[in-house]
Amino acid sequence: MEKVLSGIRSTGQLHLGNYFGAVRNFVQLQHEKECYFFIANLHALTTHTDPQLLQKSVKDVLVEYIACGLNPDLSAIYIQSDVPEITELYTLLNMLAYKGELEKTASFKEKIKKHQENINAGLLTYPVLMAADILIHRAHKVPVGKDQEQHLEMARNFAVRFNHRYGTDFFPEPYAYNFTGKLVKVPGLDGNGKMGKSEGEGNAIYLRDSDQLITKKIRKAKTDSGPQHENSKKPEEIKNIFSLMELVSTPDTIQYFDETWNNCSIRYGDLKKQLATDMIQFISPIREKIVDLDSDENTLKKIAQQGAEKARISAKATLDGVKDLMGLKSIWK
Ligand code: ADP
Ligand code: TRP
Repeated sequence: MEKVLSGIRSTGQLHLGNYFGAVRNFVQLQHEKECYFFIANLHALTTHTDPQLLQKSVKDVLVEYIACGLNPDLSAIYIQSDVPEITELYTLLNMLAYKGELEKTASFKEKIKKHQENINAGLLTYPVLMAADILIHRAHKVPVGKDQEQHLEMARNFAVRFNHRYGTDFFPEPYAYNFTGKLVKVPGLDGNGKMGKSEGEGNAIYLRDSDQLITKKIRKAKTDSGPQHENSKKPEEIKNIFSLMELVSTPDTIQYFDETWNNCSIRYGDLKKQLATDMIQFISPIREKIVDLDSDENTLKKIAQQGAEKARISAKATLDGVKDLMGLKSIWK
C-alpha cells in the first residue's frame, strides 16, 4: 500500500495556510493510505530555542491535529524526537548530501538572512533531516504546501542517490501532494506573500482565533481604492481576498462578488463582512474541539505514545535495511 507522511514544525499555532496546504490533506488521506503524521520539534530547534515554548507548541499542534480530524486509530501521530531512528537515518543521509546543494536551498538562504545571529549547521542540513523524516517510512506521498516543493525535490535526490550508490531500489521517490492536484499557497492578509506563522501581526488567521479577532483581522486586510473601469484585472491584495473566499465561501457568493468587481459596484466592506462570516462558520467548530482537547492531557499522551510505537516499528525496519546496505551490519557472525 502507498505510504503517506507529513509534518509541521512546532513553532506556533496552526493557521489557515497550514490547514489548506497540509492538514486538510492529512485528514482525507488517512482513510485511503498508510499514514504517518508528526510534529517536527527537531526542525523547530533550528530557529526556536526556548525550551518551554517548544513544549507548549508541540502540545498545541498535537491538539490542533486531532481537532482538525486526524484519527489516531487510522494514522500514526507522533512527535519527531520520540522516534530516534529518524536522527540515526539523518546522520547516514548526511553522507550523501553535498555542501553545495545545501547552501543553494532557497529556505536556507531565506533563513540565514532572517536569523543572522544563529546560522547553525542544523539550518544547513534542514533538508537532510526532512528527507530522513520521509524516507524513514519509505513514503510515496507527502502532503505539503507549495513552499515545500524544493525540499521534496531534495528528498527525491537523496533517495535516488542512495539507490544508485548501493545498487538498490530500496527507497521510492517521494512527491509533494495536494488532493486538488495542485499545491496550494494560501495568501496572507497583508497583501503580499503567503500566510505564515512569522509574517507579522494580522497576516495570519489561526484556527484558535476568536470570532471577534477573525472579524477584526479581515476588516483590516489590505485593499485598494476600488476598480477604475469594468472587467479590470484584480490587484494582488484583492486577488488574495478572493482566494481566501474560495477556501470557505460558496461558489454563488464568489460569483456575486466577482460580478460586482467586474461592474465596479463592489463594496469592500460587504466583501469583508461576508468573508468574515464564512470564515467564522468554518473555523468555529474546529476551535471548539481545540478548547475541549487542550485540557485532556491523558488522551494527548496516549495518542503520542501510540503514534510513536507505531512509527518506530516502520522506522526500525527501514533503518535496519539502510544499515545493511551501507555496510553497517554487525561484523560478528
Ligand atoms: P509556517 O510557514 O507558517 O511557519 P510551516 O512551515 O510549519 O508553517 O508549514 C507547515 C505546513 O503548512 C507545510 O506543509 C507548509 O507547506 C504548509 N503551509 C504553511 N503556510 C502555508 C500557506 N500560506 N499556504 C499553503 N500551505 C502552507
Ligand atoms: N519543512 C516543513 C515545513 O517547514 C516541515 C517538515 C519537516 C516536513 N519534516 C517534514 C514536511 C517531512 C513534510 C515531510 O513546513
